[in-house]
Amino acid sequence: MLTVSNLSVQFGKRVLFDEVNTVFTQGNCYGIIGANGAGKSTFLKILSGKSEPTSGKVFLEPGKRMSVLEQDHNLFDEYPVLETVLRGNKPLFEVKTKMDALYADYSDENAEKIGELQVEFEEMDGWNAESDAASLLSNLGIHPDLHYNLMKDLDGKQKVRVLLAQALFGNPDVLIMDEPTNDLDYETITWLENFLANYDNCVIVVSHDRHFLDAVCTHISDIDFGKINHYSGNYTFWYESSQLAARQRAQQNKKAEEKKKELQEFIQRFSANVAKSKQATSRKKMIEKLNIEEIKPSSRRYPAIIFEREREAGDQILNVENLKASIDGEVLFDNIDINLAKGDKTVIFSRDSRATTAFYEIISGNLKPEKGDFKWGITTTQSYLPLDNSAYFQSDLSLVDWLRQWAQTNEEREEVYIRGFLGKMLFSGEEALKSANVLSGGEKVRCMLSRMMLMRANVLLLDEPTNHLDLESITAFNNSLKNFKGNILFTTHDHEFAQTVANRVVELTPNGVIDRYSTFEDYMNDKDLKEQRQKMYDGTVNAR
Ligand SMILES: Nc1ncnc2c1ncn2[C@@H]1O[C@H](COP(=O)(O)OP(=O)(O)O)[C@@H](O)[C@H]1O
Ligand SMILES: [Mg+2]
Repeated sequence: MLTVSNLSVQFGKRVLFDEVNTVFTQGNCYGIIGANGAGKSTFLKILSGKSEPTSGKVFLEPGKRMSVLEQDHNLFDEYPVLETVLRGNKPLFEVKTKMDALYADYSDENAEKIGELQVEFEEMDGWNAESDAASLLSNLGIHPDLHYNLMKDLDGKQKVRVLLAQALFGNPDVLIMDEPTNDLDYETITWLENFLANYDNCVIVVSHDRHFLDAVCTHISDIDFGKINHYSGNYTFWYESSQLAARQRAQQNKKAEEKKKELQEFIQRFSANVAKSKQATSRKKMIEKLNIEEIKPSSRRYPAIIFEREREAGDQILNVENLKASIDGEVLFDNIDINLAKGDKTVIFSRDSRATTAFYEIISGNLKPEKGDFKWGITTTQSYLPLDNSAYFQSDLSLVDWLRQWAQTNEEREEVYIRGFLGKMLFSGEEALKSANVLSGGEKVRCMLSRMMLMRANVLLLDEPTNHLDLESITAFNNSLKNFKGNILFTTHDHEFAQTVANRVVELTPNGVIDRYSTFEDYMNDKDLKEQRQKMYDGTVNAR
């Protein structure tokens, strides 16, 4: 379907791809993974012809159409919504534009040309195009009232959905998307997961969203050392199987036969779980064909994230009463009562991310509430990963000295100790001497996590902890929180993170709180709750 031959890409001295040969096949969905800066976005741009490789070729089978999810949300601002979607199918849109122009300038000569174009249009199912586009939009929650508005009149969330409809419009043979779930809300991501799981054409997608990768991918394409390798299965399969293979490699006295049997059993268990899950059929069938020969030990390094507690907290954790916050007169939340029990791992959720951030700022003492009160149990200690960590990094301290600020004992203040710590977070050798103010977003978060590990608090506050992190760090972080014995209050866009860590969901609305002991998915998918939540935001019902 899509063939890449002898592809090399180099920027200055840096070689991103070295003689890559690979094929993307009809019916498969490829999840492209690789470290930050490995070249994932560059690769997609080359596949779609937006960038040129240094050498080599990309070849799309003749007669096949490729479509790309647009990254620039404002590119179609001057066009009406429905037309923006129609423009997703270029050949069709061109024929339509020519036809419309000829109609506008009608003559006998033009009539003949129009006739020819009409045949072409017919073959592309053009007469149904507008209604197809409209129903795609409506499925994505863009109401027909908006279809003739200009894109610039939509809000950010709506624009992303229209661009999604544009990419999907006309069933492209190859669909390319770079981090599509980044700007989408839970409902739209769920819709997209279901759509792609049932989509029979070729999809190539870069994502850090493990739930999404697991729901849609038949293959994981790993970019490492300038090459791309495809592995059958979704992300969890790739992660678990490559970890198992790495463990096996270390067990030198174990017989090859035993290792093979262990892998085979792993595959069977995994396939049985996939078959049980509610994943849609066409993709699921692909995942059932997992191959033992493809399993390779991963060369990836995962940061060692382990949260320990200085001491166990008592029964009183946090009590919040009648809390209110607003920004410029707009109420973010009001009438919030919460009583946290020992060991609760709570997702704090709100439609407006400013509400959850204000909540963390208040309970960590950085912001005064407009009304109400909160009280931490006397045996609790908190460490906080704020959404905006820039204040911590306005310093030219080396990372070793930076982290030393939170050391609690003389032993911890020792250079070797701190360096060992930074090493575990993948800052080794020279890296540990970098100055704090030059770090990338992901590096800053890894430093903040090191700081939290040193603090050994028994309550963790995490506002969008996965932002800027790569998949390896997210996976390691997620595992550590599953095992953490203390309390966690966290807010995240990462579905898998929320689903596997939380036992409780607390939603902050302008008209009170909704508080349930539940998994995140059960909470989000509960029909009655959905209705109640809507009313709480609309203000037609009050929780109290
Ligand atoms: N046009 C360019 N000129 C020079 N360097 C570039 C260019 N485009 C990307 N790079 C570099 O190539 C590397 C890969 O970038 P990118 O494909 O965006 O990575 P990823 O999406 O995997 O995080 C980065 O180090 C980036 O700075
Ligand atoms: Mg990228």
